[in-house]
Amino acid sequence: MNRPSTIRHIVIGSRREKSKGRWREAVRAGFTAFALLGCFASAARADDADFVKSKKCMVCHAIDEKRVGPPFKAIAARYANEPGAEARLTNKIRVGGSGAWGILPMPASDSVSDADAKRLAHWVLMQK
Ligand code: HEC
Repeated sequence: MNRPSTIRHIVIGSRREKSKGRWREAVRAGFTAFALLGCFASAARADDADFVKSKKCMVCHAIDEKRVGPPFKAIAARYANEPGAEARLTNKIRVGGSGAWGILPMPASDSVSDADAKRLAHWVLMQK
């Protein structure tokens, strides 16, 4: 009487083992993918931070404190929900100007191409 149920137990148990193994594999694959993505993402971030430094933006800006210009985090927060913000900031980085944050103007940047300005604007908007 006891036997069939023991067998069922074993069968179910081994099925469970198998599905646990598959689950573990999936988790491991997920972690690996995640870790790889993390590496790429942080590498891209480091590159962009160097790029921003190379354009002398950090002379007047910091990520999260006010210098001559507003902190990049504050800029990102302010334009977070504004459509067209990237284009607006791209233009501002190119031609400079004042009035959005105070009376101090941001100078036009000759060493920044249109493509650079777009990349910088995109980077600034990511600093949340
Ligand atoms: C000489 C100082 C100075 C430098 C160098 C500088 N900024 Fe600024 N930046 C400012 C000031 C001042 C403001 C605020 C302007 C305003 O109130 O409209 C500003 C504002 C900004 C804004 C917000 C613009 C807006 O309309 O809200 C962005 C984005 C920005 N700067 C990005 C950059 C980037 C990218 C660089 C490097 C290419 C850079 N800044 C270099 C002084 C500077």
